[in-house]
Amino acid sequence: MLDARAGSIGTCPCRVRQWASNSSDARLKDSMTPKLTVLGAVAPGLAVLAIASISGASSIVGSRHDILSDLANGNSIMRGTINNYGEICVYCHTPHSASTSIDAPLWNRPTPSGPYTLYSSSTMDTAPGNPGGVSLACLSCHDGTIAVDAVLNAPGGGANLSGPWYGVSQASKHYKMVDATVHTGGECGQCHTGSWGHDARMSYLGTDLRDDHPIAMAYPTPAQDPDFNQPPDPDRGWGGQSSADIKLYSGKVECPSCHNVHDPAYAPFLRKPLAQSGLCLTCHVK
Ligand code: HEC
Ligand code: HEC
Ligand code: HEC
Ligand code: HEC
Ligand code: HEC
Repeated sequence: MLDARAGSIGTCPCRVRQWASNSSDARLKDSMTPKLTVLGAVAPGLAVLAIASISGASSIVGSRHDILSDLANGNSIMRGTINNYGEICVYCHTPHSASTSIDAPLWNRPTPSGPYTLYSSSTMDTAPGNPGGVSLACLSCHDGTIAVDAVLNAPGGGANLSGPWYGVSQASKHYKMVDATVHTGGECGQCHTGSWGHDARMSYLGTDLRDDHPIAMAYPTPAQDPDFNQPPDPDRGWGGQSSADIKLYSGKVECPSCHNVHDPAYAPFLRKPLAQSGLCLTCHVK
């Protein structure tokens, strides 16, 4: 089920800007409305941010985190499920009026409140805590409690900064990632069972994290557990400023330690290949 488009898309995040100014791009057809002006006003700032900071092998453009391309490729049916804000970053980030209640960069989504059931095990040396900000950021879509298109500040905002604001909202949208067995209200999992939409049920983690790799625990010291490689930077892990390697967030393992949300080169959005368990063996000595 892995994305056939992964790896075949642009190599430079600056394509965001090119894309935004290419009015003939099929993916922008929906935005051939006054929204296009808005796009011009908001996108360049974040595009500059992208050029400076994202150094992956591939680009978010056209990936499954490019919600617009989902709307374009997923045919007209998808248009009925997610509001099209006319740009990529806005589903997660905003240059202004970002959330101050979550430790994730310029975050444009409501903070999920869980409560989460945490991984636990008798053989662990460290204890998972409640998900940190950058993990809550992922869970704001992936735990299925908040709609994929729920943003605090949609393009052209200003009218309502108290959010969550759905911009060019149609209240009939705002679908969540939940499974049809949980919800019958036409949420993502209702179509995405593998029969007539690809099977997306694995993308829905829910709030029970016991079946997921533990997160939000401090990385073990050699004294705690010699079965772990020690990172060059105890605070930030192997990645440093670059997104190319495993990261720690304030010394902790979080969802984006292993995943690079902006880069589909190593599906599914991994920071490095799973081949020969390279990803796992960065941390684990096994
Ligand atoms: C699906 C959600 C999502 C989308 C869409 C998204 N981001 Fe992010 N971004 C995140 C999350 C989560 C983090 C924090 C985790 C991390 O460090 O990777 C982040 C971190 C960042 C950072 C700081 C860390 C770094 O990697 O340099 C920058 C800069 C950034 N994003 C820019 C962008 C730009 C520009 C776009 C649009 C082209 C974009 N993002 C689209 C979720 C997203
Ligand atoms: C704005 C909502 C949103 C946020 C925030 C978000 N995602 Fe996603 N993510 C999606 C959507 C939509 C998909 C596509 C689901 C599908 O079709 O399988 C997806 C798919 C994925 C996939 C599977 C990709 C594949 O090729 O099958 C991974 C892995 C993933 N996300 C990880 C993350 C991580 C880690 C974070 C936080 C750092 C994050 N996501 C934040 C919306 C989001
Ligand atoms: C009414 C049925 C329906 C609903 C509801 C629905 N989708 Fe889809 N979606 C489809 C169909 C059909 C396709 C095209 C076939 C495919 O790629 O699976 C598609 C395509 C996609 C794609 C593009 C896949 C790719 O790799 O090109 C993504 C991502 C996606 N949907 C995510 C979602 C998310 C997230 C939700 C909920 C917010 C959702 N869908 C709700 C029917 C639906
Ligand atoms: C220790 C590394 C690690 C951490 C931490 C981690 N993941 Fe993953 N994740 C993976 C790997 C590896 C895969 C691919 C598994 C496979 O292909 O069988 C994956 C797969 C996924 C998928 C796609 C599921 C599928 O099979 O399509 C999603 C969505 C996802 N992770 C989200 C998250 C979220 C959200 C968090 C935080 C709550 C998280 N991950 C934390 C390593 C990690
Ligand atoms: C960012 C570093 C990191 C990466 C990458 C990573 N892990 Fe872990 N993993 C940890 C930490 C830290 C723990 C908690 C260990 C402890 O406290 O004893 C853990 C726990 C585990 C556990 C549970 C151990 C127990 O005692 O219950 C398993 C199993 C595991 N990891 C497997 C994997 C696999 C498989 C991969 C690759 C898909 C992987 N890990 C990638 C850091 C990582």
